[in-house]
Amino acid sequence: MSEQEERLVSSETLHAEEVVEKSLRPTRLSQYIGQQKVKEELTIYIKAARQRKEALDHVLLYGPPGLGKTTMAMVIANEMEVGIKTTSGPAIEKPGDLVAILNELEPGDVLFIDEIHRLPRVAEELLYSAMEDFYVDIMIGQGPTSHPVHFELPPFTLVGATTRAGMLSAPLRDRFGIISHMEYYEEEDLKEIVIRSADIFDVVIEESGAYEIARRSRGTPRIANRLLKRVRDFAQVTGEGVVTTLIADEALKMLQVDDKGLDHVDQKLLRAMIELYNGGPVGLTTIAVNISEERETVEDMYEPYLIQKGFIKRTQRGRVVTEYAYHHLGYPYNQES
Ligand code: ADE
Repeated sequence: MSEQEERLVSSETLHAEEVVEKSLRPTRLSQYIGQQKVKEELTIYIKAARQRKEALDHVLLYGPPGLGKTTMAMVIANEMEVGIKTTSGPAIEKPGDLVAILNELEPGDVLFIDEIHRLPRVAEELLYSAMEDFYVDIMIGQGPTSHPVHFELPPFTLVGATTRAGMLSAPLRDRFGIISHMEYYEEEDLKEIVIRSADIFDVVIEESGAYEIARRSRGTPRIANRLLKRVRDFAQVTGEGVVTTLIADEALKMLQVDDKGLDHVDQKLLRAMIELYNGGPVGLTTIAVNISEERETVEDMYEPYLIQKGFIKRTQRGRVVTEYAYHHLGYPYNQES
């Protein structure tokens, strides 16, 4: 692989954290916990495509970060028994970058593009014919010697991941035959994931300890697994190495994850809205600036969970902190409604 290709396609050198995350990943649908609806649908489509000996239709996975979109792309490739090439929207800077990757595909392969909404427009436009009819037309050379070249591609499956389907242009979105929404995980499912991860890490955990981590992980496996690692450290150093409810609770308190699972940033965000804007309405950009986070991070990561759990409401005039959030954070609530 050339240096350029290595930058574009999944790099071989993983950071320690990624190695751990990778080892925790389920490889088959049967091992994948939660996302019942997505799994049920994919099971049928995969079976049908396999029976017809065809590539699976293109799949768009959307939902908040950390819910297992990359893992699901890998599971799809495994279930289809095909190869997978991985890249991301921001890694592709020019059309040639995308052509280089498309050129590597074997018949039936999965091409996974993470953060597909961040693909440059010129690259996105190449995908239209690639997805629909498996070819690309590109211009080679510059000036008077430039000429169009037609590239045939093998049938392949594009799996795109994005935090919000609405961020995709309509022509791109319309070319996905399968559009699946990844939801925040149920506490019971997250508990099973924590138990599975503890087993892989060789951590002794009580079911109630696993539940405590699960219910305070913002419905997100990536967070649950990260918290499990910190709670394990805590159990090892201050306890007998066993993750009990008490140990989990103490460790999570130390990590500033509160009783409802709100982390330091969630709390900072709500407090800023209450203290500086009297609970709102306040715009998203203003909130982001006040807590020194990117607007996109607030929009994709923090806000959806705070809305789902009833701490924030979205109104025509901006975001508003709910009475429930006031009580939870210990502020008096005296807004006229
Ligand atoms: N590890 C992280 N996410 C998982 C999931 N959805 N199922 C099983 N193990 C996981």
